[in-house]
Amino acid sequence: MEKIKSPKNIPLLSKTLLISLALFIALTSLNLKVNLIEIPFGFPEFIVPKDNPLTEAKIELGKKLFFEKLLSRDSSISCASCHNPKYAFTDGLVKAKGIKDREVTRNTPTLTNIAYNTSFLRDGVNPSLEAQVIVPIHEKNEFDFHILLAAERLKKKKEYVDLSLAAFGEVPNPKVISNAIASYERTLISGNSRYDQFTFQKDSTALSNNELRGMHLFNKHNCVSCHSGFNFSNGEVVNNGLYKDYTDIGKMRVTLDPKDKGSFKVPTLRNVAITAPYMHDGSIKSLEAVIDHYIRGGYDNPNKDKRINGIKLSENDKQDLVAFLKCLTDSSFIVR
Ligand code: HEC
Ligand code: HEC
Repeated sequence: MEKIKSPKNIPLLSKTLLISLALFIALTSLNLKVNLIEIPFGFPEFIVPKDNPLTEAKIELGKKLFFEKLLSRDSSISCASCHNPKYAFTDGLVKAKGIKDREVTRNTPTLTNIAYNTSFLRDGVNPSLEAQVIVPIHEKNEFDFHILLAAERLKKKKEYVDLSLAAFGEVPNPKVISNAIASYERTLISGNSRYDQFTFQKDSTALSNNELRGMHLFNKHNCVSCHSGFNFSNGEVVNNGLYKDYTDIGKMRVTLDPKDKGSFKVPTLRNVAITAPYMHDGSIKSLEAVIDHYIRGGYDNPNKDKRINGIKLSENDKQDLVAFLKCLTDSSFIVR
């Protein structure tokens, strides 16, 4: 009778084979990731949902859909109409405008490094990039359409059917639309500003003395307690004292908890020089005026975060702080 081999008896050769096979798979999947999206120096890897792994085919379809006007009811605007690559995926407006010039209640946020966000919308109440896609499609003041109807439109275009089959093995449907667009959005990585060249690429000449002073002030005056880390955001949803009384109640609109009134997500400051105007409602026109807000310490209200309590800056300090914020612009990012 033949003896059943215990795992210990696996010959040495096949063990080595197994190990090299595992190593090969690990390395090729690593390569795949790096090939698809280059993670800049100093940036961590980002997390991709298990049920929507990144592929070239999804990114290609997602990019086309991001610029596709057919997703809006009257086929007049696309995601890119508001998230314009030229302005780091914003629109330069105080408040966004949807189809038929309908005004949205909020300012368009940048999509810079959106792959690293863990919550979406200005008040952080949406949990995933995939789920976020449906919001503007359904919103009356944005596309005023429906994802099922959008999928029907795409199904009639051979080009989209082919791209969808290549990426998902399925004809266009809601999952295809949201997973493809989310995949494209994850490629919007910006990590080659002069700040990055100085900090992560170790080019000691990349920042001027004034910008370096500005960086020092940014740390000293605790901007960094909220706008922290490689992406200049700790991801918190807080009240930065923009108003005494808020018309847009922020996170409270979902939680109904008065403590959340006026709480908004700490935005990234990357490319901030080209994403004016600022704050959830676009009410602050310039970076200088944003600094004035922090010098004043904002307006008192019961929910104002303790870290916002006024700072002392000379006119020179203010200019240097603005100069620092401007060096977060990544000119290679805005050409897409
Ligand atoms: C009419 C202008 C407009 C259009 C069109 C539009 N957006 Fe937006 N987008 C906004 C505004 C305004 C917000 C902030 C909304 C809020 O906080 O309630 C936003 C928020 C987002 C966010 C969350 C960003 C963050 O920091 O949390 C993502 C992601 C996004 N949009 C992607 C898209 C995609 C994908 C499309 C196309 C399917 C799209 N948007 C279409 C204006 C627009
Ligand atoms: C307590 C946390 C906190 C601190 C400290 C803080 N911020 Fe902010 N910052 C926020 C929040 C929250 C917003 C968004 C508010 C909104 O959307 O209405 C914001 C918005 C901004 C914006 C506008 C970005 C945009 O895209 O609209 C800039 C610029 C900015 N902060 C710079 C700074 C500077 C400079 C400092 C230090 C002087 C600082 N912040 C300190 C929380 C903070």
